[in-house]
Amino acid sequence: SRIYALIPAAGMGKRMGAGSNKQYLLLDGMPILARTVAAFEAAPFIDGIYLVSPEQEIPFCRSEVVDHYGFSKVRAIVPGGAERQHSVCNGLDAMADAADDDLVLIHDGVRPFVSQEMLEAAADAAREHGASVVAVPVKDTVKVVKGGVISETPPREELWLAQTPQAFRYGLIRDAHARAKAEGYLGTDDASLVEHQGGEVRIVTGDYRNIKITTPEDLVLAEAFLKGKG
Ligand code: CTP
Ligand code: MG
Repeated sequence: SRIYALIPAAGMGKRMGAGSNKQYLLLDGMPILARTVAAFEAAPFIDGIYLVSPEQEIPFCRSEVVDHYGFSKVRAIVPGGAERQHSVCNGLDAMADAADDDLVLIHDGVRPFVSQEMLEAAADAAREHGASVVAVPVKDTVKVVKGGVISETPPREELWLAQTPQAFRYGLIRDAHARAKAEGYLGTDDASLVEHQGGEVRIVTGDYRNIKITTPEDLVLAEAFLKGKG
């Protein structure tokens, strides 16, 4: 069976407030999205990559990311939707020749520090269990707050921060997305759609460096990680 990557990069980066899409901001001279795609291009077991981009940016994405860096595994650049879930759904629909038993690793375009070990561990767990999520234990105590007042303090040992990749058998995640769409259910990640239909999702321990570049301080962290590497 085959293993594909699906990389949603069709967001608007509102929390970054950069005035342009954050996926094209440069980190040490290279666009964030290109760094992310490079990780999958370099993984020998990845057979193909599907990118999701805002429709009007598809030509830019093709020239500045795919062609510029010579990524040979990119099979299509698919137009995104209003929410991340819609973008991923469009990507899954575009994977016309994927079989139910093939695997798909869904990974945020703005998470460039994913490691080869993480990709492999996520794929292995999905092959064995059907669905997996890379995650790290929370460091802080988490409070549930209603109207400015704490209503609950869940035990910290049970709390994990979900990252990507989130890996699935293709048939499972395609059906979970179709069902969520039919029910009008909107989740903030892909695993939640599998959970919503009663499916079991395994946790794979990730890395605190695998940050999602979301707000300006994440760029400072990202530059520091890159400097530490060199
Ligand atoms: N994404 C997407 N389609 C959307 C929204 C998000 O493909 N409609 C992608 C983003 O491009 C990003 C990933 O999903 O790679 C994670 O989303 P997030 O960090 O929330 O990015 P944005 O939605 O761009 O940022 P913001 O929520 O601050 O506007
Ligand atoms: Mg968003």
